[in-house]
Amino acid sequence: MALYSEKVMDHFKNPRNVGIIEDADGVGEVGNAKCGDIMKIYLRIRNDIIEDVKFETFGCASAIASSSMATELIKGKPISQALELTNKAVAEALDGLPAYKLHCSVLAEEAIKNAIVDYYEKNGIEYDKAKYAPGNCPHCHDDGEGA
Ligand code: FES
Repeated sequence: MALYSEKVMDHFKNPRNVGIIEDADGVGEVGNAKCGDIMKIYLRIRNDIIEDVKFETFGCASAIASSSMATELIKGKPISQALELTNKAVAEALDGLPAYKLHCSVLAEEAIKNAIVDYYEKNGIEYDKAKYAPGNCPHCHDDGEGA
């Protein structure tokens, strides 16, 4: 079997939603502790809906494909749905990632959560800090796969 699925290759070679949003309503940036790669995500939010989303990722093929797929999965969706997006769902939407590359998909999940938290903070909206605190992603700490 090829290392990467066709969907991973497609999203790596033709990533969707690359770029920045000027005056974004929320911006989230995360670094992957395992490899040093970085992802930044920009959200435009209107009436609790993610109207637009863009990303910049400095990372491996899996990180770029995951970022691209994650943005597609949350675009046009309510914030509540975006907050539920897991790295597992992103990997599944890509028809799977090699086990040792699963941690790369965590970047997208965390960056989206951080961007939403940034939106909440900027607008004085109450949220469950314990649940969405940056760096509090359970997937990042124990997959034990190494970079
Ligand atoms: Fe760094 Fe994939 S995100 S190796």
